[in-house]
Amino acid sequence: MTRDEVLDLLKQVHYPGLNRDLVSFGMVKDVEVLPEGVDVHLEVASKDPAIPGRLDEAVRAVLESRIHGRLQVFTRLTGGHGESENHDHHGHGHGHGHGAPDPNTMPKLLEQVKHVVAVASGKGGVGKSAVASNLAVALAAAGYRTGLLDADIYGPSVQLIMGSMERPFVQDNKIIPLEAHGVHMLSIGHLIEEDAAMIWRGPMVMQALTQLMQDVLWPELDFLVVDMPPGTGDAQLTMAQRVRLSGAVVVTTPQEVALIDARKAVTMFRKVGVPILGIVENMSWFQCPDTGKRHFIFGEGGGAREAERQQVPLLAELPIDIRIREGGDRGQPIVSQDPAYAEIFDNLVQAICRQLA
Ligand SMILES: Nc1ncnc2c1ncn2[C@@H]1O[C@H](COP(=O)(O)OP(=O)(O)OP(=O)(O)O)[C@@H](O)[C@H]1O
Ligand SMILES: [Mg+2]
Repeated sequence: MTRDEVLDLLKQVHYPGLNRDLVSFGMVKDVEVLPEGVDVHLEVASKDPAIPGRLDEAVRAVLESRIHGRLQVFTRLTGGHGESENHDHHGHGHGHGHGAPDPNTMPKLLEQVKHVVAVASGKGGVGKSAVASNLAVALAAAGYRTGLLDADIYGPSVQLIMGSMERPFVQDNKIIPLEAHGVHMLSIGHLIEEDAAMIWRGPMVMQALTQLMQDVLWPELDFLVVDMPPGTGDAQLTMAQRVRLSGAVVVTTPQEVALIDARKAVTMFRKVGVPILGIVENMSWFQCPDTGKRHFIFGEGGGAREAERQQVPLLAELPIDIRIREGGDRGQPIVSQDPAYAEIFDNLVQAICRQLA
């Protein structure tokens, strides 16, 4: 068997939990075909001690029956997020084995994007993904070249909301983003099996997120909207360190438990120097279709009060509307369905653009 034949077979070996193969990930450093057998040398930017064993198993499953003699799989872990930068032409050549490099000093990612805008919240389930998707569609409708990156590694939902569930193409080791509603987009949900990410630990989350920026052929864009996971953890830190964020939009519902968490998100972004573009209050009221009366189910005016306290604009108030939920579940964001919402989000677009001009 030749080296190329071995490489061809290695293209069938998926990285554990991901729908991509080791070769397209650039993890195969060398294949040696020797008289006594085959040596495969892998290099993986991870600290997870379980990885070498799992890769050994996966490679054996594909190769073992095909080669004569022994098979040896050597896996070198290059420790955590972003050491894969060593292969980057702009890399500063961080040495191996001298501790993890400082992500703050690594070259920034997504430099082809004019404005990267994070849509964040402290609390989960307040409507970040709904706001991020509709904002992206509204930006595209306003004529901006727009992308949408689902950074919620644990609970990706952009592929559902945007109605694009197909697998993206890979070209020259780069993933081509998908397109829907005029928006270039990609979610970890496009790359991995459902549920696979649930077991990921911190460094893997950061690595996956880095790959969504670095190994994806994001075109030149005016805006990239990033749908963040809830909270103030690894993903938020990775984004703040590796990308020049133009600003963050913080989504909250009007009640105190959500506002407390929104405050934490604001504080975190400020700490890392990311401007807060403002607050979007979601689920502000429910308008009874029979009587036309507004019911303030989660309380009234919480978003406005918090915006005042933080000295940031209240960018929008969105009612509870069954069509927002239905549109999200059907892959038809509400702004593409209803002119009233198109207007609300167009105002949001203008409020953001005024600040970033
Ligand atoms: N204004 C609204 N009216 C009705 N349903 C809404 C509204 N906003 C969001 N939803 C629905 O509520 C659910 C949660 O919203 P979404 O997924 O956008 O929240 P999230 O903050 O992104 O959640 P997570 O923290 O899990 O990422 C979704 O089913 C969504 O369609
Ligand atoms: Mg979400």
